[in-house]
Amino acid sequence: MRLMLSFFRAYRGPTLLMLLALLLSGLAEGIGLSALLPALNIALGTGRMDTGAADLSGYEAVIVETLHSLGIATTLGNMLLLVLLGIFFKSVFLLLAQRQVGYTAAQVGTDLRLNMLRAILRSRWEYFLHQPAGRLTNALATEAERSSQSFVHGATAITFLIQSMIYGAVAFALSWKASLVAIVAGAIVIGLSHFLVRITRRAGRRQTSLLTSLIGNLTDILASVKAMKAMAREGQADRVLASDTGKLNKALRRQVIAAAGLDAGQELMFAGFICLGIYVALGIYDMELPTVMVLVVALGRAFSFLGKVQKQYQKLVQGESAYWAMLDSISEARDAAESAGGAAPPTLATGIRFEGVGFSYGENASVFHDLTLDIRAGSLTTLVGPSGTGKTTLVDLVIGLLQPTQGEIRVDGEPLSGLDPRAWRRQIGYVPQDTVLLHSSIRDNVTLGDPDLTPEAIEQALRDAGAWDFIQALPDGVDTVVGERGGKLSGGQRQRVVIARALINQPQLLILDEATSALDPDSEQAVRQTMEALKGRITLLAISHNRGMVEAADCVYRLRDGRAEPVIAGDVA
Ligand SMILES: Nc1ncnc2c1ncn2[C@@H]1O[C@H](COP(=O)(O)OP(=O)(O)OP(=O)(O)O)[C@@H](O)[C@H]1O
Ligand SMILES: [Mg+2]
Repeated sequence: MRLMLSFFRAYRGPTLLMLLALLLSGLAEGIGLSALLPALNIALGTGRMDTGAADLSGYEAVIVETLHSLGIATTLGNMLLLVLLGIFFKSVFLLLAQRQVGYTAAQVGTDLRLNMLRAILRSRWEYFLHQPAGRLTNALATEAERSSQSFVHGATAITFLIQSMIYGAVAFALSWKASLVAIVAGAIVIGLSHFLVRITRRAGRRQTSLLTSLIGNLTDILASVKAMKAMAREGQADRVLASDTGKLNKALRRQVIAAAGLDAGQELMFAGFICLGIYVALGIYDMELPTVMVLVVALGRAFSFLGKVQKQYQKLVQGESAYWAMLDSISEARDAAESAGGAAPPTLATGIRFEGVGFSYGENASVFHDLTLDIRAGSLTTLVGPSGTGKTTLVDLVIGLLQPTQGEIRVDGEPLSGLDPRAWRRQIGYVPQDTVLLHSSIRDNVTLGDPDLTPEAIEQALRDAGAWDFIQALPDGVDTVVGERGGKLSGGQRQRVVIARALINQPQLLILDEATSALDPDSEQAVRQTMEALKGRITLLAISHNRGMVEAADCVYRLRDGRAEPVIAGDVA
């Protein structure tokens, strides 16, 4: 029940409302049930109702006296009406409670998803890099849903518990001895079947970890499916997925057996105790039939609800681990949050300077040691160097996604580490090495959903990126949907859309990481002209082996052995 306490703390108001509605519903049900005893006595013709309450048994006397003092005659019609009214109000309050449960459950799921997404998006880049994409997908899709279902099961368990207690209380008022025996019997049944709940909890945990692994693997495989199909290696994917799904299937089967076992076992044991109770009450203690009948109804329903409490609890523990796993992921990501705040960034009037910068990814061998270089404001600086020498890493350091382990990066003389990272990045236009587009229109891909960008600005950015002509030829122009990951466009077309995205906000610093590698000479020429036109107005940093980009550069650095050395453009092969 640690889970429900955690939910209560997070959603105090809604859960209190829910509990109030449940209590009122239970009360109405108790009143209705209490009217059943006099109704049965009248129906069975004992006719003692009008002779006064003196010769009635304890609880019945209390009911009749209360009714008389309220001016309600104890006729069969009145009693049945009271039973009906009890059921009516019970249903109304139960409906209100269930509505509250549904709303809160939806809120639980939504809050978990949003908190997870925000925590991940605000985490440090190095932390983000180590998060498998599938883990996030699984958390947002499956774990959030299982957590919210756990809340529903927990709340339903509480509903049943209250109902069980109301029936138990009525039975207690009728015969406390019989009820005491029944409570012991109930505890035995619940205790005996608890091992089935434990099996379910273990299977639920297994399901959580297997789903994370399965969806992680699935996401990876889908990302490289083209290469797999092209070389007829789909079987490889099949083997990986078949192993995960096989294990998942086993865990699910265990859950099904545990649930069915609880269903069958509980019913049998409760029925056995009730039959035994009737036999003892009528056969040995010679109790009156109407009392025994109401007692059987009350205890029977108390047992039945108690059984349902356990079944709901079983369902709760099945999804519980998803909730804890999500909370763990959220707090882990929050611990890895990127530092926020800092000084307002300068306008980039003189330039960016790397001073004796060292960097390594975790424990790995260092990528840079004692690297010094200048990116002068308003100029085009091009970086060249063999694959794996750290060109992309250098750019990530400039953006502030990574932090140097040694030395300092300065913007107009001010340390980058002291600047507000988000304010700094808002001045940057960035074209990454891997161009992946959103499954949306070209317009959305350029604006990234910013409604303030005008159609004229979009057209200008697309023209500057050399993309306008091919987009004009598409049937829907800028409203063309580019397909999953931009798959309906060619590699070079995707690159130009991403360049337009980087240009549209008129950045102070434009960074292109191999941005023209997939372009034909004409498109490359268009981008190069844009760069030439931008030179002087903004600062440009390009990673490129492309002759045009090297020739257009004011300064070229070659990365080698963890350092940067200036080279003359003509020397770049
Ligand atoms: N997230 C990472 N974790 C650990 N090592 C990394 C990570 N990213 C890159 N590296 C390593 O750092 C080195 C520099 O990588 P980087 O991507 O900066 O090279 P690059 O010069 O951009 O190469 P390319 O021309 O192939 O794009 C490589 O040896 C690479 O293996
Ligand atoms: Mg690179």
